[in-house]
Amino acid sequence: MAEIRIDRIIAASGLASRREAASLIRQGAVTANGATVRSGSEKFDPETADIRVSGEPVGYREHRYIMMNKPAGYVSAVTDRRDPPVTDLLDARLRRLELFPAGRLDKETEGFILLTNDGDLAHRVISPKSGVEKVYYAEVEGVLNDTDIQALAEGAKLRDGTRCLPARLEIITPGTAFVAVREGKYHQVRRMLASRGKPVKYLKRVSIGSVVLDGALRSGEYRELTEEELSGLFSEEIADLAVFQIPKKR
Ligand code: URA
Repeated sequence: MAEIRIDRIIAASGLASRREAASLIRQGAVTANGATVRSGSEKFDPETADIRVSGEPVGYREHRYIMMNKPAGYVSAVTDRRDPPVTDLLDARLRRLELFPAGRLDKETEGFILLTNDGDLAHRVISPKSGVEKVYYAEVEGVLNDTDIQALAEGAKLRDGTRCLPARLEIITPGTAFVAVREGKYHQVRRMLASRGKPVKYLKRVSIGSVVLDGALRSGEYRELTEEELSGLFSEEIADLAVFQIPKKR
């Protein structure tokens, strides 16, 4: 990787802002390969240099990818005038990295939301062209049946006339199902099921591509994606909805 100014490397690690990084350097708290750094303009390859702040390795990564179990009541944004944004749930170090949600979940929808600072990847995850399948667990009013499965498979017609791409419905009980969609229209799953006369009472996203929400994450918790999960986001495999676990509500 190319060499980068050390104050930028520190800021991109989330350990300090760029200004704070400059101050840490002045205090002599920053070392690179064992030698004290004297100026923020010194350059290093962040992938190979051993850079530390007060002895702690900076752990530089160009991009970060966070799987969060979003609670209801938070909006998929970085700022909002009325409601708390999901980024409020991140610790101070991650908040400095200016992560943003790749795609939107409604305020009341729970589950897997991806937070990243990689704009290209976010775009690919969201774009209907990439065909990434997202699976939701839904609880509805009314009784789901084979006609609903067929209607969604043919592409649901929403009440405003919008036609959706084909989606898959796996009925678990008469009032619960997994729904797999490849696009992200506004309130899509809620509107698709409402168009069948089965309004959604509870909605939780359980997977993106082949990456399933980690069942160990309680509501509001998060962790970094593994390398394998990162490539799984774009998996074109058709998930077997029959083997999905019913998510915990917590
Ligand atoms: N579909 C919805 O209706 N809401 C979401 O949050 C996501 C998909």
